[in-house]
Amino acid sequence: MIDFLGDWKRSDYCGMLTRKDVGREVVLMGWALRRRDHGGVIFIDLRDREGVAQVVFDPEKCASAHVKAEAIRNEYVVAVRGTVVPRPDGTVNPKMPTGEVEVLVTECKLLNRSKALPFTLDGYVDVAENLRLKHRYLDLRRPALQNNIILRSKVAQVTRQYLTDNGFLEIETPFLTKSTPEGARDFLVPSRINQGSFYALPQSPQIFKQILMISGYDRYFQIVRCFRDEDLRADRQPEFTQIDCEMSFIDRDDIIRVMEGLMALVFREAKGVEVELPIERMTYSEAIRRFGVDNPDLRFDLELVELSETVRNAGFKVFAEVVASGGIVKGLNAKGCARFSRKEIDDLTEFAKIYGAKGLAYVKIEQGEWHSPIAKFFTADEIAAMNEKFGAEEGDLLLFVADRPKVVNDSLGKLRNHLAAILGLVDKETYRFVWITDFPLLEWDDEEKRWAAVHHPFTAPMDEDLEFVEADPGRCRAKAYDLVLNGNEIGGGSIRIHQEKIQSLMFRMLGLSDEDARSKFGFLLDALEYGTPPHGGIAFGMDRLIMLLTGSDSIRDVIAFPKTQKGACLMSEAPSRVDDKQLRELGLKLSVK
Ligand code: AMO
Ligand code: AMP
Repeated sequence: MIDFLGDWKRSDYCGMLTRKDVGREVVLMGWALRRRDHGGVIFIDLRDREGVAQVVFDPEKCASAHVKAEAIRNEYVVAVRGTVVPRPDGTVNPKMPTGEVEVLVTECKLLNRSKALPFTLDGYVDVAENLRLKHRYLDLRRPALQNNIILRSKVAQVTRQYLTDNGFLEIETPFLTKSTPEGARDFLVPSRINQGSFYALPQSPQIFKQILMISGYDRYFQIVRCFRDEDLRADRQPEFTQIDCEMSFIDRDDIIRVMEGLMALVFREAKGVEVELPIERMTYSEAIRRFGVDNPDLRFDLELVELSETVRNAGFKVFAEVVASGGIVKGLNAKGCARFSRKEIDDLTEFAKIYGAKGLAYVKIEQGEWHSPIAKFFTADEIAAMNEKFGAEEGDLLLFVADRPKVVNDSLGKLRNHLAAILGLVDKETYRFVWITDFPLLEWDDEEKRWAAVHHPFTAPMDEDLEFVEADPGRCRAKAYDLVLNGNEIGGGSIRIHQEKIQSLMFRMLGLSDEDARSKFGFLLDALEYGTPPHGGIAFGMDRLIMLLTGSDSIRDVIAFPKTQKGACLMSEAPSRVDDKQLRELGLKLSVK
């Protein structure tokens, strides 16, 4: 028998009861987490989003409620009326926030039943993620996920408040729009009314927020969904959320200052962590030189060592030839790792190869000497010079990669993080922020045989580099900046080009004909000619930020309804087929069966 709610009103959340509620009559509503029968007396852990309370059904005190309790199974929906009492001596549970009290039930309503669950919601048991995602409505009941989603709401609320207090207006921009390139593929939406034409879902509101600056709104923000059809990884989703901001009449430092305030507030309110301001800054070239990557994790040292000059004339042909042909040689000192077995070193080599390294030369420092297949190729002077650069000591393992700069930096940079994890160098309790600045403006895309924007095509070159954009694109730096937290890029932005002439030049540099530029971005080029203020902005990856704040391993654990690596929603089974009729209306025909 299912009871109606009737005129019952909940008085408290289960998870909120404490000792100071003793003596109160309360009405709780929630899900039966588990039921224990103790020789007549039945205990049920009743759960709602705020936590768990122990409710007690004593047949002596209330027989009718006790009869109902006997029928309750896991995840049944239950309402109880009762009195808060202290738990008897010896039964206090210090691990539960409500562990000092329990509720003696006088009345009970069974509001709904539940089928037996496909997996347990109980704490830490490992359940295959696909099963969790298929039954996301159950998975989302688990306290760990509920805490993530609640914290996410808190961050959104703090962000809105802070940005509003700082003069930002929350303005919506369209989802059905024209392609804005952020380096990924677009999701397309066919138009029924204009058959053969397509909208693109925005990869970000970039152009619209710039146009809002042109229109004089001065400061804009939006907590906004962005869509990118790219290959997914643990920290990427096809639709994800940005905290997107734009400001007028400002320079880089103004943006950095306002956004540091936002980060400090978010970390204080959501996590109780004080972020030390100002956040440290590092140029892109320093980051690459010292750490190999533009998102360095500064929680540990393990810096890359530059060796090209030292090995330029060495007898080891692999190194000497790489340097002679314009490549570089760098290394890492894995402190104390001379004990690594052949197999462990092979694993490191395989890891480096993922990022294009052709090999990973190594040296063990044992009994004060180099032990290595390559030791014989170096003179005593060369060895001494390298030891000094590495700060090599007894028991160290020196690792080397020789190749094009990109391969050397990529592979050693990633290996650095990998080693730090293996060696336990990462302090999980610290939050290390760093701004990476002075990015290159353009980079050569070898596949497409053209220059590509490192941030996006609307990013301004440094004033002093403007004159070289055409003649020597590779040397130009951009007014772009990323915020990196513990080795993750959590935000990126730039000062924008606000002159039509420079924007047109940039499109030409990217290989767009004037015609293409007009057909894709004509509206922006037009708008730029009507009094555009200097402006710039930034967008934070909200999901990544929440992932780091909650210590989650996967971005999927901070999104209520995420997609799999294959872009599927296992619960709703999207993407899915559509009717022929729908296709006909859109003027579409499928070429796949
Ligand atoms: P950008 O492309 O760097 O900049 O994106 C900003 C931030 O969004 C997050 N992010 C993602 N998070 C989850 N899944 C994804 N697929 C994904 N892609 C990006 C990252 C990143 O730092 N319009 C510019 C911002 C600007 O210039 O103001 C932009 O979108 O944390
Ligand atoms: P080989 O001369 O191919 O026998 O390699 C000798 C050692 O150098 C092995 O440990 C290789 O892994 C390593 N090695 C080969 N090519 C490179 C390279 N480009 N960079 C770093 N180490 C390399």
